[in-house]
Formats: sequence, C-alpha cells, structure tokens
Amino acid sequence: MKQHEQVAMLKRLLALRETRRDERMLDEVVTIPVTKYTDQDLLDRELASAFSRFPLVACHASALAEPGSYVTSDWERFPYVVVRGDDGRVRAFYNQCRHRGARLAGERTGCVKNFVCPFHGWVYELDGMLRGMTRAHDFPGVDTREYGLVELPAAESGGLIWVSRDPGATLDIPGFLGTFHDDLVNFDVASLVQYKKTRVVKEANWKLLIKTYLEGYHVPYLHRDTLARAFKRGVIAHDEDGPHIRLSAARTNIGEVTAKPEDEWRILDHASVYYTLFPNTFFILHPDYVSINTFWPLAPDRTIWTHDMLYRDADFSGSVGQSALEKRFVFTNDTVFDQEDFAIAENVQRGLEHGGSDHHVLGLAEGLLAMFQNTIDARLTPRDTTPRDTTSHDSTSHDATPRDTTPRDTTPRDTTTGQPA
Ligand code: FES
Ligand SMILES: [Fe+2]
Repeated sequence: MKQHEQVAMLKRLLALRETRRDERMLDEVVTIPVTKYTDQDLLDRELASAFSRFPLVACHASALAEPGSYVTSDWERFPYVVVRGDDGRVRAFYNQCRHRGARLAGERTGCVKNFVCPFHGWVYELDGMLRGMTRAHDFPGVDTREYGLVELPAAESGGLIWVSRDPGATLDIPGFLGTFHDDLVNFDVASLVQYKKTRVVKEANWKLLIKTYLEGYHVPYLHRDTLARAFKRGVIAHDEDGPHIRLSAARTNIGEVTAKPEDEWRILDHASVYYTLFPNTFFILHPDYVSINTFWPLAPDRTIWTHDMLYRDADFSGSVGQSALEKRFVFTNDTVFDQEDFAIAENVQRGLEHGGSDHHVLGLAEGLLAMFQNTIDARLTPRDTTPRDTTSHDSTSHDATPRDTTPRDTTPRDTTTGQPA
C-alpha cells in the first residue's frame, strides 16, 4: 500500500469503527456443506487445480541469502529444492537424483557448493547440471548433459520465492498478485529477516485452518484473553484481487491516528493487514513482525502447517530485542494459532466425522469464508479427470501465471450448488 492508500484504508476503518460493524461482505446468510472438509475426491480435485495451476510460496527470500543456500519442500507430495545459484538466480528442481532417484538435499535448509547424492555420490552444480558421475567408466554412452536435475518454474518476487507444480508454467508473480504485489513491495517485505520457522501437522482440513483467519467474529470469544486486547472494538475492511483476499483489521489504538497529520499516517501503526495468497498461503503484516503461514494437505482431515516469522533487524537488536521477539513468537505461534485457532479447527474437524449437522451457517461478517470457498470451487477440475485439467471452468487458469480474471462473485451463494442461497 502506498502512503495515500494507507490513509484511505485508515479512513475506511475509522468510519467502520463509528458504525461498530465490519465492512459488509455478504448480503445474506449462506451455508457451506461439511463435506467440503471430509471428501477425499474433492481434495484430489483441489490438488489437481488450486495446488497445480497456481504459483506456490516456497519461502522468504532471506532463506536464500547467498549462493548455494537452499530450501527443501515442506510437502512430500511436491519434493522440490529451491537454490540460489552462483549467478544470483533462484532455481527450483525436483529434489531427486537422476541416477536412481535418491533425495538429493536432505536438510530443510542449508548452504552447499554443489549437491552430492548420498547414494552413489553423483555431483550436481547449483544450476542443476550433472557435474560428474562416480565410476563414470561404468556408464559408457551416458551423456551427462542429459542427466541434469529436472527443473521446475521458480521466481523471486515481492520478497518471496515462488514455485509451481506445473513444469510448463512461466511465472509472472506481479501479474498473479495484482495490486497486492505492490503491497509486498511497498512494505519492503524483501528486507525482512527470518526469526524462526516451524512445521507441524494439524488434524484438520486445509480450508478449515485458513478459514479461522478470515473473520473477526471469533476474536472476542476464542481469543478473549489474548488477541482481543489488541483488537478491542476491532473492525475489518476487505478487498479482493483475482483469487486473493486482503483484510485490514483496526487495532485498539486506531483512534489515536487522527491526532497526527495525514502524511504521517502509517497503517501498520494502527491495524494489521492479512492476505490469502491463493491458494494456501496466509500472509500477515503486524506492526512489528510478519507471519507467513502455509497449508499443505495430506488428507481431508490432515494438513501440514508451516509458520515463518520475519522481522526487521533494526527493530529487535541485541539480546533484549531477541527475547522480545521470542515472546511474540510464543504468543502468536503457540498460544493464538496453535492453542486457540487451530485447536478449534481440529475440534470442529473431529465433530464432522460423526454425524450431526450437515452444513455450517455463515453470518454476514463471515462472508470472506464463502468467498474463499467459492474461489477454490470455481477453479476445481471436473470430477473423474486425471490431474492435468484441460477443460476447466476457468479459461484463464491453465497457465499458472496470468492475472486471474475470473469474474468476482459478490452475490451470496450456496457454495454447494453455486446458486444464490
Ligand atoms: S541415486 Fe544418486 S548417485 Fe545413485
Ligand atoms: Fe483467530
């Protein structure tokens, strides 16, 4: 957000605060069938669509700070390694040796001069070329130029590293993120550094986990003793761009902004800004740190959750700064996300398996949950197709990169049928 956009957003939030209501998201109550969170066939179709045809966030750029630094995938289903080359370029490869397929980079992160396979010692350059085979005389006629690592599309943009599961895709991240890419640039996400990253498995559907972020309704109840203090009388404004959502939540101190001249208004002093970066990243800008959360499905009721917390070096210097950071991490990661948001998502998921209500009902302030659901559903592969879909509902989404131009559906809908509820 540029400064004048921050001023406009703060004015939107101040006006909402007067009404004591979130910005209107839906005009009427809608329902979501609980099978959205339990159906294996549906998950397979989501994996073949949302997770296959769009760029995915691999990590923050600071994780690949120098040549040779690499990050491996958090999700076995998509076993990539992203690495910065000697030429400074970021590339992605299948993390798989071309000899007999051993996993090449074994750690989650590291820094190497080249990749050496642990099985028989083949060596690969950072640009994926096979530099040498051990006992090369046993491979007569095998051309090393044909046995480089299998490359995947990768890009560095907005301070993030992106990869795609579609080997033929060309990544245009500014086009994909639209105006929200400007936000990543204007908030200078690229200059942040990593504090800590965690990876755990949660016993809940990936969409159920993301949806816990998409409304402020629960904050005074579920987060009564924690977040509710920072978001007292909190109100939410929202924007969409293509398949992505931005929500801006006023913090308790928002009223204080009017005491300053407008050219000093900075949104992160008085609000937190949240993004769903379609499909599986939830990106949070807080006043003094950033959280990148990603969700990788294992089964309809199991999901890998990663949380990467970033900060600005100058804000937390020395041992005092580091212990302040640790306090924030424990508060956000362990208490708010793990013990409150995702614990209630697991609680809901457990209940889905044993009958009871066959749908969830969403109030007017929960409209973003329906928008997120509709965005996924609109891009689903048809039933009973192989993973690569060529007859999608969405003619723009074959290519992982172009700006998604699917018309925005602002009409309240029953998300099962697509009909107005
Ligand atoms: S599998 Fe990698 S060298 Fe044999
Ligand atoms: Fe929450």
